[in-house]
Amino acid sequence: MIDYKALIREAYIAQQYAYIPYSNWAVGAALVTKSGKVYRGCNIESSTFTPTNCAERTAFFKAISEGEKDFAAIAVVGNAKGTPIGKGDYCPPCGVCRQVMAEFCDADKFEIILARSYDDYKVYTLSQLLPLISLPIKK
Ligand code: THU
Repeated sequence: MIDYKALIREAYIAQQYAYIPYSNWAVGAALVTKSGKVYRGCNIESSTFTPTNCAERTAFFKAISEGEKDFAAIAVVGNAKGTPIGKGDYCPPCGVCRQVMAEFCDADKFEIILARSYDDYKVYTLSQLLPLISLPIKK
């Protein structure tokens, strides 16, 4: 069983480290492996824009670079910096992040938790957010 609230708390911790001088949009993600290990990520922006990395991909790339392959869920929180918890909206992952998730996760099982506070959240499978996945190799 995934402890959604604990994972959301980790996403809020990650959000504090967002490097966002250009957008002021702070995103935090917490990715949990099937064995229960949590990898946090924040968005990291660049003055030349394209190197910007979303919070979700930061968490994935940290985990993958540590040898993790089996993922259960990711919690995501995002809002303009300084928005009180509960006053913002859900922050769904961008299309690029959804495609990265599809590379490494079983889309029918991997869960994406979108939270606007510690106890106001929605849970989706990756298939719901990314139907008709483009994957040339069979995993
Ligand atoms: N961003 C994320 O980190 N994750 C999302 O789900 C949406 C967008 C970041 C990218 C950029 O730093 C800022 O939010 C505004 O788009």
